[in-house]
Amino acid sequence: MTAPEIRQHFLDFFAEKAHRIVDSAPLVSKDDPTLLFVNSGMAPFKDYFLGTKVAANPRVADTQRCLRVSGKHNDLEEVGRDSYHHTLFEMLGNWSFGDYFKTEAIAWAWELLTERLGLDADRIYVSVFAGDAADGLPADEESAGLWRQFVPEDRILRFDKKDNFWEMGDSGPCGPCSEIHIDLRPAEERTDGSGRALVNADHPQVVEIWNLVFMQFNRRADGSLEPLPARHVDTGMGFERLCMAIEGKTSNYETSVFSGLIAEIEHLSGKAYTNRYGDASMGDVAIRVVADHIRAVSFAIADGSLPANAGAGYVIRRILRRAVRYYYSFLERQEPMLHALVAPLADQFKAVFPVLEQQREFVTRVVLEEERGFLRTLSSGLERLEVLAKAGNIDGESAFELYDTFGFPIDLTQLVADERGLAVDMPGFERALQAQKTRSRAAGERTVGDWTIVSEGEARFVGYDHLERGDVGILRFRSLTTKKGKAHQVVLTESPFYAEGGGQVGDRGQLTVGGEVIEVLNTTRDNDLLVLTVDRLPAKPSAPVVAQVNAALRARTERNHTATHLLQAALREVLGPHVQQRGSLVNGDYLRFDFSHFSKVSDGELARVEEIVNVRIRQTIALEEARAIPIAEAAAAGATMLFGEKYGESVRMITFDADYSRELCGGTHVANTGSIGQFRIISEGAVAAGIRRIEAITAEGADAYVREQLSVLSAVRESLKNPIDVLTQVEAIQEELRAARREIERLHQEQANEAAKDLVAGAVARDGYRLVAAKLALEDAKAAKSLAFQIEDQLSPAVVVVGFVSAGKPQLMVAISKALTTREGFHAGQVVKTLAAHIGGGGGGQAFFASAGGSRPEGLGEAIASVAEIFE
Ligand code: SER
Repeated sequence: MTAPEIRQHFLDFFAEKAHRIVDSAPLVSKDDPTLLFVNSGMAPFKDYFLGTKVAANPRVADTQRCLRVSGKHNDLEEVGRDSYHHTLFEMLGNWSFGDYFKTEAIAWAWELLTERLGLDADRIYVSVFAGDAADGLPADEESAGLWRQFVPEDRILRFDKKDNFWEMGDSGPCGPCSEIHIDLRPAEERTDGSGRALVNADHPQVVEIWNLVFMQFNRRADGSLEPLPARHVDTGMGFERLCMAIEGKTSNYETSVFSGLIAEIEHLSGKAYTNRYGDASMGDVAIRVVADHIRAVSFAIADGSLPANAGAGYVIRRILRRAVRYYYSFLERQEPMLHALVAPLADQFKAVFPVLEQQREFVTRVVLEEERGFLRTLSSGLERLEVLAKAGNIDGESAFELYDTFGFPIDLTQLVADERGLAVDMPGFERALQAQKTRSRAAGERTVGDWTIVSEGEARFVGYDHLERGDVGILRFRSLTTKKGKAHQVVLTESPFYAEGGGQVGDRGQLTVGGEVIEVLNTTRDNDLLVLTVDRLPAKPSAPVVAQVNAALRARTERNHTATHLLQAALREVLGPHVQQRGSLVNGDYLRFDFSHFSKVSDGELARVEEIVNVRIRQTIALEEARAIPIAEAAAAGATMLFGEKYGESVRMITFDADYSRELCGGTHVANTGSIGQFRIISEGAVAAGIRRIEAITAEGADAYVREQLSVLSAVRESLKNPIDVLTQVEAIQEELRAARREIERLHQEQANEAAKDLVAGAVARDGYRLVAAKLALEDAKAAKSLAFQIEDQLSPAVVVVGFVSAGKPQLMVAISKALTTREGFHAGQVVKTLAAHIGGGGGGQAFFASAGGSRPEGLGEAIASVAEIFE
């Protein structure tokens, strides 16, 4: 069986057991502030476990792409060095949301592995949770009992919390788990039960393949456990490891999952992969690292995460740079290489994860730009590191310099240092980093303390239809400490406030709680909760609430949001269908739209785009909203969807003229395009490789902008004495100015030539060279410098010292013929330092040319006079 067949067997098996098969969610977890990336199959289903959302189908199975490179689950250090860890991997999973529990989960796992997939029963060991006193949790004897039907007692092992209690992150759903391990050693080594001691002992041939988690608790932010409303099953099987077991290989990298990529890397680098492990085989380590990392980087970018300096984007950049360093150092490849792997990877996955194939060209370009950027500084950074390594010490300042100047992520510096047996001064690095304070925008808010529940229930958004609601209640509230200080939050039973999302900012407004007026500062989403940030908590949280959205602000925001849709459609019309939304921001003041396009948008194109949007505005097109239609129907209707966005079963479709603009969108819009009034683009530029940004304004903002432009124009007109044609007049003035400048330059040159003649004539002959020292009547440093060189050239070998005053400041320049710097050991830098003392300043430079500036113009004479003496 090959990888695609193995995957299909898994999905078919659970489909037979009445599971609904769903697509993988994108890697980037937009709705979950506790995760940067989806790190496990269950993460996209968190709401179902917590009970804040009810699953349409209580049994689900899929293969989910997962990334374990940050936070609680991070395998990055192992990747490449061993045979079975990855950054990106596929997790095969089956779920029960409050439906079946341990009995079925265990029996089905056994049936699939041994009967369907034909794995040897006596290679299998299972583990169960041994209990934990601190958390007050008993051992999972129930699972042990269930396993006894299939495996002998001595193959059922017990492990503590570290191995057998699974948690998504520092907070979130969790529960005891039961793992399935497989012993892949050859028969002669597998003497009776000898694998037992190798379970959970980092043996490359005795590995965990499947984890069955029995979700029963929520870990709160304060570390305590609360029981979940229902019990669930979350299983995760490492797909690449399963392929290793079934294909009978000793490494994930030898399976059909990786063979294509590795052949490609061998071809590009001219190095053969020999499947060896250990420090002596760095070429093999590098090939594994490259094969692994390109998967993580490609899918993360396809799913909407771009390499960046902070947050999730920085994680992607670090992985990419780590791969570049490995091929540069150990595959001796100096040219970009990762980008060439995107196409074969996209091809390999087009049936199961088509998102990469759909954006192959874009991802390739982004990766190529990143590679080029890092290759520019990598070799000098490595040289710098070598020097530090020879000195035996990588101090914090140097590590920071490597980070800041050479683009070395700190873990890369640590990796290279580690290869040399050196440590990096991490506290020193942290201090240097803090000192620079570049990263203040990192990570989000830190939560201290949890919600106080006023009443149970579901929060509903009613803000598509209402801006004001009376007789609403508060469901829960909390105070928390954020980077900016204390914040207060409440969740309403029914909320007309739009929560920040899809680029549109959150609504603001007012709550009146039992007569007390409270300001709503922002509205955000935490998974399914609509959270209002307020200026203070109400005195009587259980009193009835009147909720009012700031309607003027909402209206301005809506104009900008609808204008964004009109803009996207116009861009596709003018630039082509490759234009894809890459990010957007819509607030009451303006709109910002990022999209894929590979060159500057010309002024002509911008004008056409602006014109199309304005025509659409004047056509007064009415909004058509389909609030909840099946996603398939929206797709059939040709709605624009975003890559990297996870859409539910039913979606909201916003149309302004079925032949013009139709998008899936959760935001709020004007009822009719006419109310946008007018649309003006105010800027266009690049944000990243292949991504452009347009900023635009509408309505009153656009009116004010146009008024201001016109008033600037009439001021210019007036200052030119109201000519008939302002532009011709301005061009004429500029031409006149250019001619005048040319004339001045010519006169300066003439003056300088005269001066040069005098100086050459007055040169003093010394022993084997001539000396000129003079104060010039010039003001321009550039002219003085060229004059000095001109004289030096004419008299060569010669020493030329000139002094002059520019903008009130004295300056000195020393030019010495190269012949003299070697023969006589003259050094212009040293001379100018001595001379600078006279003018109360300092300077320096090279042996053949140096300059100095000072503050005492009256000292210039002395300085020039002292030259002869110096050369004496
Ligand atoms: N959540 C568990 C894991 O990631 C099982 O899916 O291992």
